[in-house]
Amino acid sequence: MNIFADNIEAMTAYVPGEQPGSTHGVVKLNQNENPYPPSPAALAVLRQFDGQSLRLYPDPMAKRFCQVAADVLAVKADRICVGNGSDDLIIMIARAAAGRGRPVVTTEPTFPFYQTQAQIEAANFIAIPANDDFTIPIDALGQANGAVTFLANPNSPTGATATTDQLDWLARRLDGLLVVDEAYADFADENALKLVDKHDNVVVLRTLSKGYSLAALRLGFAVAPPPIMAGLIKIKAIYNVGALPAAVGAAAMADRQYHDQCVAKIVAERSRIAMELARRGFTVYPSGGNFLMVALAGGGGRAAYEALKARNVLVRYFQKDRMSDKLRISVGTPQENTVLLAAIDADGIGSRQ
Ligand SMILES: Cc1ncc(COP(=O)(O)O)c(C=O)c1O
Repeated sequence: MNIFADNIEAMTAYVPGEQPGSTHGVVKLNQNENPYPPSPAALAVLRQFDGQSLRLYPDPMAKRFCQVAADVLAVKADRICVGNGSDDLIIMIARAAAGRGRPVVTTEPTFPFYQTQAQIEAANFIAIPANDDFTIPIDALGQANGAVTFLANPNSPTGATATTDQLDWLARRLDGLLVVDEAYADFADENALKLVDKHDNVVVLRTLSKGYSLAALRLGFAVAPPPIMAGLIKIKAIYNVGALPAAVGAAAMADRQYHDQCVAKIVAERSRIAMELARRGFTVYPSGGNFLMVALAGGGGRAAYEALKARNVLVRYFQKDRMSDKLRISVGTPQENTVLLAAIDADGIGSRQ
């Protein structure tokens, strides 16, 4: 007899990007982490945190954090549900809304964790291929009409970004939930927050892992209309976010100046390396995130990934359909990006292969 249910036995585990034992001397551009340190205000809260208060359970809804996030994003605090990273919200939404007879739809390539959750819930999983230019196939997502449609926007690994008007259309077209995963929205021109007020079936996910340099803290949240909030509250682990992440996260979100400066530096570097890589013969796809998807003129994504790794530059290669000639490269600091470009030149990666 199998220990686990058939759908769990049949699935493979999610494989995260590699994490070197030590990051010393490594230019780590493979997990879309923020290359800058967290806000000094957030680090001050971390240092001054009253350890004695850890004796007590935290507020299950992290209301103080929600109020700060609500003020920053100009949404209502009671429309925010916190999670142990946005992964946690993806799990909750799949648990609540996907299952047998309740298909999960997304595009491909995208964040593979949506498929993982569909499999755990034994839901039919439908992956609509991205358009030829890797833009998001909005019409086909609408036609598939899933019980849950997950859309990373900007999408990873492609960087493609649907407009708010397209998402508005999609929300109207769908009978089920539209989950707009805005993990990378800090780096994009538009976001879908206003759709939460307009549609009962739209949830926006945010994380502090990317725009706020707090990937290890594990803090994310959903912005959702009241009926969806009610469902999330039913399903969530009672104390899914600790008092420490909530306090540090609130300080990070409140420090707008620091956030905006980091984002501006990353967006400027995104343009610079896009230009530099294009000059070296790569096809560079437009990106709204803190990363770029690039294609090598001669193919050989894996060989390029390995050559860069041998020079201590980690980027992401995906062994998937339509991805064998591509790399996803997170935007680092100007110095890190210069090391990346030098490694590319040293190995003659790009059109000069
Ligand atoms: C599209 C997307 N959504 C969600 C996540 C998970 O973020 P978190 O660290 O908040 O769990 C990631 C992480 O890389 C991501 O790329």
